[in-house]
Amino acid sequence: MRLGCCYYPEHWPEDWWAEDARRMAALGLTRVRIGEFAWSRIEPEAGRYDWGWLDRAIDTLHGAGLGIILGTPTATPPKWLVDTMPDMLAIDADGRERRFGSRRHYCFSHLGYRAQCQRIVAALADRYGTHPGIVAWQTDNEYGCHDTVVSHSAAAAQGFRRWLAARHGDIDTLNAAWGNVFWSMEYRSFDEIDPPNLTVTEPNPAHVLDYRRFASDEVARFNRAQVDILRSRSPGRDIVHNFMGFFTQFDHHKLSRDLDVATWDSYPIGFLDQFWFSDAEKLAYARQGHPDIAAFHHDLYRGCAHGRWWVMEQQPGPVNWAAHNPAPLDGMVRLWTLEAAAHGAELVSYFRWRQAPFGQEAHHAGLLRPDSVEDSGAHEARAAAADLAALGDLGPPAKSVALIFSYEAAWLFEAQPQGRSFRYVELVFRCYSALRQLGFDVDILPADAGLDGYAMVVIPSLPLLDDELVARLAGLGVPVLLGPRSGSRTVTFQIPAGLPPGPLRTALPITIPRVESLRDGLVETGDGFAVGRWYEHVETSLTPEIALKNGRGIVYRHQTMRYLAGWPDDALLADVLGRMAAEAGLATVSLPPGVRVRRAGDIVFCFNYGRDPVDIAGIASASLIIGTYLLPAASVAAWRVAS
Ligand code: GAL
Repeated sequence: MRLGCCYYPEHWPEDWWAEDARRMAALGLTRVRIGEFAWSRIEPEAGRYDWGWLDRAIDTLHGAGLGIILGTPTATPPKWLVDTMPDMLAIDADGRERRFGSRRHYCFSHLGYRAQCQRIVAALADRYGTHPGIVAWQTDNEYGCHDTVVSHSAAAAQGFRRWLAARHGDIDTLNAAWGNVFWSMEYRSFDEIDPPNLTVTEPNPAHVLDYRRFASDEVARFNRAQVDILRSRSPGRDIVHNFMGFFTQFDHHKLSRDLDVATWDSYPIGFLDQFWFSDAEKLAYARQGHPDIAAFHHDLYRGCAHGRWWVMEQQPGPVNWAAHNPAPLDGMVRLWTLEAAAHGAELVSYFRWRQAPFGQEAHHAGLLRPDSVEDSGAHEARAAAADLAALGDLGPPAKSVALIFSYEAAWLFEAQPQGRSFRYVELVFRCYSALRQLGFDVDILPADAGLDGYAMVVIPSLPLLDDELVARLAGLGVPVLLGPRSGSRTVTFQIPAGLPPGPLRTALPITIPRVESLRDGLVETGDGFAVGRWYEHVETSLTPEIALKNGRGIVYRHQTMRYLAGWPDDALLADVLGRMAAEAGLATVSLPPGVRVRRAGDIVFCFNYGRDPVDIAGIASASLIIGTYLLPAASVAAWRVAS
């Protein structure tokens, strides 16, 4: 695995560049990403390109032996461009313009802006496409960051109408699919349909769901417009995009079909603070990030672009954008780097080389401080580079358990939640975490992925099921778990005629006539576990495999298939997954809290995300090649097993 960093030559005096490049190489870095926000310096005025500085920056970095990942600058259209077509700005759900003065100020559906992007990308590709220093292109930067996938602009409305006509064919079909007879919402033509915002009360959820599908497709189209240009003018270079954490507003599986490598930006401590973790978790892991945050995304994005993935931005110290931004424990930057290696990353690139003394991110650490002195992240990157050199090439990440993830499921549950605390991504994360706590290696995959060769399959929830998938799952011959709300809707967002779980009923004879969402504290208890947030009533002649104290079932099993009829706590998840593992012949490990393992090739890595040392002598099955049996906080051990 390689190491790299994100660098902004346009932020620093030109006479610093050569020394920066020399120091990067001396630290063990071999890749550098540049350019993704530099449009105003590349083209200061319409049609006037200033290539000189970028030519010299690229030559300097290349001259130091660094391979360059060049970003297309389309996340930051310059002021002159916005002023030539102000309607390129996105419009938020309240009808307000999202104006110039930060970044990502554009609407994906604006065809004029898309054409401007194609122009600047073509100009860049013509200039640098065959430069020997350019090893990859990054399209734009973090599609959707700052809540920018969904726009309610006039351009989006027009695009939506075209998209609806292509999907539904005629307006009567759309009216029937959406159930528009409800509240007299029927339309006479596609031209009458607006984006689903500014309505008196909630818009039709079927309308919302189609809008989310449309917005997702628009991101993929916007990306493809750049990819097509780069492929033809810069052959042999990887085309990548940098995805985010816990972000579901577009379908990353679909967009990744156009990429060579899926990359993501890993900020475990910021994500812990920003997302739905409990207060106890936020405190326990404040300086480490929850032990499964980085791993979850590594395993998710590895499943996006034919198995190839990178960390494009790695947190190197405190960040600036969460509500609280503590510094990582000493050791965490090295630990995160090696965890990525254990999951099969080809590259970990630190964000950023040097902390900026100006702008929105002045409090964001870099590998260097603003005064160019090495910050702790640089020391740890150097240590990680030494570890990686000592380990040599790692084998592929081990294949064991498949976990199914669906972006469309996330949109569907957001369009009609029925319970505030039913958070799809959190449910998937909790299942993932439970699997990791049992010591399993997990691949996170879309539902249409090949599932042969996995010892078990976990589907936290999949509201849209079809007969083909159900038959495929039942035919795998390995334990399969489907969670609450699976099979609960049709593709047009209606309740299936035979009731949920829809097509699953052929493989698992249960019917769900009623569901309940439960406020915090309202739980149904079982023997050693509790079900909160969501609970489903089940009609069946099957005897529950696991029941609540009130006698009603919570887990049902028929042959290899299981259904979980509510939101499980950790104990229930561990119980069900443990039963499945036993049937699958998979050994489970008892890991201390905060400790995780991951196997790549014949090496098992062990990570201590806790705040105290732990004794791993009972976990390590061979003598250590990295680390110590009393494993300190924020540190890593590894051992070699028979392959
Ligand atoms: C990422 C983004 C970077 C920078 C970084 C700060 O989301 O891609 O440009 O803003 O966060 O942590």
